This record gives sequence, structure tokens and C-alpha cells, in this order.
Amino acid sequence: MATLRYGFIGGGFVAAFHLRALREVRGVEVAGFYALDPVDKLIAYCREHGLGEAKAYPNIREMAKEVDVIAIFAPNYARVEHVEEIVDAVKAGAQLKGVICEKPLARNMKEGRRIVELIRSVGVPEAYFENQVHMKPVQAQRLQLRPVMEAMGPPTLARSGEEHGGPHSAWFWDPVRQGGGVLSDMGCHCLAVSWYALTPWGKPPRFLQPQSVWAETALLKWGQPRWRQELLNRYGVDYSKTPAEDFATGMVTYKNPETGQLVKGQFTVSWMYDKQGLRLSLDGIGPGYAFEMNTLRSPLEVFISDAAAASILDTELALEKLQASRGLLCVQPNEADLYGYTDEHRDALAAFQQGRSALLDWEYGLEITRLTMAAYLSAERGTRVDLTDPATNQLLETYVPLIQQGRGAEVLQVL
Ligand SMILES: NC(=O)c1ccc[n+]([C@@H]2O[C@H](COP(=O)([O-])OP(=O)(O)OC[C@H]3O[C@@H](n4cnc5c(N)ncnc54)[C@H](O)[C@@H]3O)[C@@H](O)[C@H]2O)c1
Repeated sequence: MATLRYGFIGGGFVAAFHLRALREVRGVEVAGFYALDPVDKLIAYCREHGLGEAKAYPNIREMAKEVDVIAIFAPNYARVEHVEEIVDAVKAGAQLKGVICEKPLARNMKEGRRIVELIRSVGVPEAYFENQVHMKPVQAQRLQLRPVMEAMGPPTLARSGEEHGGPHSAWFWDPVRQGGGVLSDMGCHCLAVSWYALTPWGKPPRFLQPQSVWAETALLKWGQPRWRQELLNRYGVDYSKTPAEDFATGMVTYKNPETGQLVKGQFTVSWMYDKQGLRLSLDGIGPGYAFEMNTLRSPLEVFISDAAAASILDTELALEKLQASRGLLCVQPNEADLYGYTDEHRDALAAFQQGRSALLDWEYGLEITRLTMAAYLSAERGTRVDLTDPATNQLLETYVPLIQQGRGAEVLQVL
């Protein structure tokens, strides 16, 4: 199979994580990056690890001429313009075999529909990157439980969580640019992975039909004066004026269209999880069986005493969003693989080589956007949102959550 050349839009946190993953993926070469900040470190990393003679491109058009795949790893607020530029480049003759879009697909349905229409207008295969669906523990439990699921029936309850102490760049905290708070940023992961975990073996990812969503959003830590001040000092974001939620939880009910059975996917996300670092959790229960995953359980722990702590160079080498640099630390030696980044690239590359979209296409990403919007609407109204109601679906098409509009103070408590 021919090697596919990747061009990245964005050269920040997630781009660097993907490079770590690509070290373990065959049939790919990194041609370069288009970003607003310097990408010298990423270029050096690519060369050091044999990922390709990467270079910096001045714009998307130039990059599109020299690559097979464009990966959108840039902030959410630039999605639409990036897809427009990719589509213009294809119309101008760029021969792309695939386009990857990191989660979330879009900040709301209007933006999401626009980018799905754009990419479909040129017929380039797509991959929506939702890493958790590709996590080896998520895949392994399905494989292990397959005969049990087939004999006893599919899972009826899945509970997923993604929690850490808060994101690393200013724009994530700004609800207008990012699309909201933690529900927009990380709810998409949990909505996707719980839906997937409930799906009967052998059925496609959108087989189960969403029926209703209820959710709550809250500002539990970062609305307090001390923490608001810290956000202002560190990121220039003022939560007294434009707050976003740092906690959200909710439940989606799905219907199996063949049997009529209703099943439930519960999610919890937070940016106020002051424990070791990032925790992804998922558990599922079916008749007579269960599974449970928690990424803060690692076979590797290290201990660093107060006396030795001064010599620590980079705490995030141990774990994403690590909160402490001493004591008993949880270390995940291969986070890029654990979190599913490696396998989402393998899936996308195999699909693009065959001229088709990946397991999760942009239409799937748009459905996750619809669920996210329904969750915000439910939290705003304090009621369950009925996704079988045509009027509600019509409303969701143009709905922009109050928090995303910068009006979070109307629905969140700021102390
Ligand atoms: N799958 C995951 O778990 C995960 C984790 C982190 C981020 N993400 C997603 O990845 C995307 C990027 O997040 P990040 O953490 O890398 O952000 P970041 O702030 O660390 O980096 C952003 C990068 O994009 C570049 N950039 C900014 N505006 C741009 C523009 N208009 N055109 C081109 N480049 C631009 C910046 O120069 C920088 O290199 C977001 O959509 C985010 O939701 C996903």
C-alpha cells in the first residue's frame, strides 16, 4: 500500500499527541504543518522519529497540493473557514484522499451542517476523530464480551466520564470561541463512547436511535473568586462576565430499532477534577455481565519525595493534565495508544487507502453535535429534550446555547 502524506492544520497540544501516536502507525508520512504559532519543535520531532521531512506551510492551499490527507487539529472557532479552504483547494485541483477532523466537529448544528455539506460537495472521504471509541480497552471489552452479548442481549446501561483539572489554552476557557465549557469540549467524547458501548455487536455506530436527553450544567470551582482570578491572570478569561460550565452530567436514552428496547447512556464531564490528572472512565452493564475501565489505574506507579521533586522537568511526561509532581504518581507509559489515537489513525488510513470514509464519518460527528446541543437545551430548560419531536429537532438546527453566546451568567452560579 502506498504511504499517505499527512498535512496538519494546527501545531498545538493535540498535534503533538498525534505525532506520538503516528510513531506506531505504518503507511504514513508527515509532510508538514500549517499553524499560526511556530512549528519548529514539531518539525524537529518528525525528523528525529523518522515521521517525515515535515515543513511549515504558509497556508492550506499550498499544503493541500503536496499531501494526501489533511488533518484539522486547530481550534473549534476556525473549523468552518478551514473546511472552506480545504474544499477550495480541492476544487482548484488538490488530490486529497481524506480529511480528518478532531472532535468536536462543530460548536453548533449550523456550523456542523455547513462543514458536512462542504466536504460532501467535493466527495473527499472523511474521518471524525473520536479517540475514545478506538481505545484498546473499549475495543477489547467488546471482543471479550461478544459471545456473552450475543447470548444474553446487548448492554443496557453505559456510564462514561472524562475529567481533569481544566484545559491548557486560553481559547478552551472562552465559551464563545470554544463553543461552551466542559460539555462542549469533553461531553462529545462521553456521548460517543457510551453510545458505542451500548451498540449491539456487528451494528454500525449510529444503529441505536437517540430518543431523549436530559442534562445539567454547573460551575462548581472556576466561578469562585480565587479561581476566577487565576483564570483571569493565566488566560485573560473573565468568568465574572462570560462563565462556562466546569461540570456537566446527563443521560441519553436510545432505542434499538429492531427490538424496540430502550437503553441508557450516562455521562459525566468536569474541569474541576483535582485528582492526579486526566481520568477516562467507562463501565457497562448487560444482563449477567459487566465491564469497567479507569485510565488512572496503571500497572506503573512512581514515587517522588519532597527532596527529589525539584529535579522534575516535565510532569506531563507521566500523564496528561498531571496535577502534582511529587508523591505516588500514576504513570501511563503510552498514553497516545491508551487513549485511542494510534488506532483512530490506523482506521482512517485503511479507509482512505480504500477510497472510503472511516468508521466514524462527519455525519456521525454531526449527530454528536446534535446530542450536545440537546444536552445544553435540557440544562437551560430544566427538562428532558425529546429527540423524536420534529419541532425540537427543527429548533436544534439553529440553537446556540446561552453559554456559547457568552450569556452563561444567566444559567450558572458565579460567586
Ligand atoms: N481528542 C482529544 O482528546 C483532544 C484533545 C485536545 C484537543 N482536541 C481538539 O483538537 C483541536 C486543537 O486543540 P489543541 O489542544 O491542539 O489546541 P492548542 O491551543 O494547543 O493549539 C492550537 C493550534 O492551532 C493553531 N491555530 C490557531 N488558530 C489557527 C487558525 N486559524 N489556523 C491555523 N492554525 C491555527 C495554533 O497556532 C496552535 O498550533 C481542538 O478542536 C480540540 O477540541 C482533542
